[in-house]
Amino acid sequence: MAKCSPSLIPALPKLIGFITLTLAVCIFTTSGCSNNNDAYPDDVVYPFRADLIVDEVPKLTHDRLPGPGQLDKAIGQIKELGGKTFSPKDLPENLRIELDTELQLTFGSPYKPSVGISTHTETIALAKSLKLDDETLAAGSKLYRRNCLHCHGLAGDGRGPTGPWVNPHPRDFRQGKFKFISSNPGGNKIKPRREDILRSLKAGVEGTSMPAFGLLGEQALEQLTSYVLHLSLRGEVEFETTRTLLKKKNSVTELFELLPDEEPAKETVQEFVKLYLKDLLKAYQKADAKGIEPAAYPNFSDAEMLESVKRGYHLFSSSASDAFGCVSCHQDFGRQPLYQYDDWGTLVRPSNLTLSIYRGGRRPVDLYWRIKRGIPPSKMPAVTVPANEESQKIWDLVNFIEALPFPGLLPDDVRSKVYGQATRGVAVLPESTK
Ligand code: HEC
Ligand code: HEC
Repeated sequence: MAKCSPSLIPALPKLIGFITLTLAVCIFTTSGCSNNNDAYPDDVVYPFRADLIVDEVPKLTHDRLPGPGQLDKAIGQIKELGGKTFSPKDLPENLRIELDTELQLTFGSPYKPSVGISTHTETIALAKSLKLDDETLAAGSKLYRRNCLHCHGLAGDGRGPTGPWVNPHPRDFRQGKFKFISSNPGGNKIKPRREDILRSLKAGVEGTSMPAFGLLGEQALEQLTSYVLHLSLRGEVEFETTRTLLKKKNSVTELFELLPDEEPAKETVQEFVKLYLKDLLKAYQKADAKGIEPAAYPNFSDAEMLESVKRGYHLFSSSASDAFGCVSCHQDFGRQPLYQYDDWGTLVRPSNLTLSIYRGGRRPVDLYWRIKRGIPPSKMPAVTVPANEESQKIWDLVNFIEALPFPGLLPDDVRSKVYGQATRGVAVLPESTK
């Protein structure tokens, strides 16, 4: 049997003392005592976009998702499948440097984020009205690094270390697109309200890996929301400039076609970034001004509720001119659909509405917003309905959707159409789905 060397024994207490001291120093300097460690080092910059820009997605459907970790590989295949992609690496060196320099001047760095250049007074005023001042952004950036970066990535590209491994993938903020919005339609850009982002942070996105951050408290959530907007603005300016240049044979003049109402002082990338950012900020301001406010939820008696659910069923499943035919996408009430492409070039499936899982929130008003506004980047259309019929029709749909997962809540004839011969409260799949 091996014996402990006697010469080591007297040294042991010293060794233990040393290890304890080292540990104590490490814990002291890396934990709550000093908040400086939450900040990014001041030499970290947002990387210039290198991954493919998805311009058009294939019309195909798929019956399965790509395997875990295949995010960029799957996007790389979009071209072969009939879509259109561009590589930012194909941008000529001079344009690339010009754009990168302007992005750095306008949006700062993760350590010192900003929106706008101090001499552009109109942009700075707009940014301030949207709570995008330097102080709020710096606080948001710290919180983002700790809570969000591992999924959403340094530049908000949805490609943090965890990103490719979860599905749906964390939101890539760089197209300035959001799914769960309650802003009124209008203008040439679809933007969320600040409250929409706050709500996703507070409640998380049910049924996905996006956690609920309600416990961080109101102030932190406000700061994070500002920082998400900052990343989206930076990303969208980069995305749109790069995409348009690559599409239009690097013609800087063509960039200004995106801004028909502006009169540029000169036709440079620099000027475009300035004007495009101003345009985006105005779109966010407009979205924020007034959200969709549905007429009050009617007070249904039990019998009225069954009638409403029945009407909702008709609106959902019929293709008649007075209905919406939602079932054309949500086939078999969402139990059968195939995956289709969303605006990011990733796959999404019309939801299975028999499961009672709602990504954008489960309150009746959340579902009202989803139906009235659609889920634009996932290509779920907004309903078109005459104003005088809007609230009744949408509340009927909401009542149907909320009852759908629970056979016992459906009128008998609707229940047998959805669940076949199910007994009350027990879901048995109809013959066609077995
Ligand atoms: C474990 C991974 C993960 C973490 C951590 C995470 N998210 Fe997400 N996030 C997601 C996923 C996944 C989605 C996309 C859900 C979808 O597409 O339906 C998402 C979506 C979002 C959205 C978009 C909502 C919309 O309307 O489109 C926002 C905003 C967001 N996250 C912000 C944050 C912020 C801020 C943090 C940190 C406080 C954070 N997320 C942390 C995974 C994560
Ligand atoms: C063109 C296809 C399409 C049509 C038509 C369509 N949807 Fe959807 N729907 C989708 C997709 C795709 C999703 C999943 C979006 C996501 O999670 O990104 C979805 C999701 C939903 C959700 C889940 C929202 C959440 O918070 O998770 C509801 C509810 C819904 N649809 C209701 C309807 C209703 C009601 C109609 C008819 C008025 C309808 N859909 C028509 C494609 C469609």
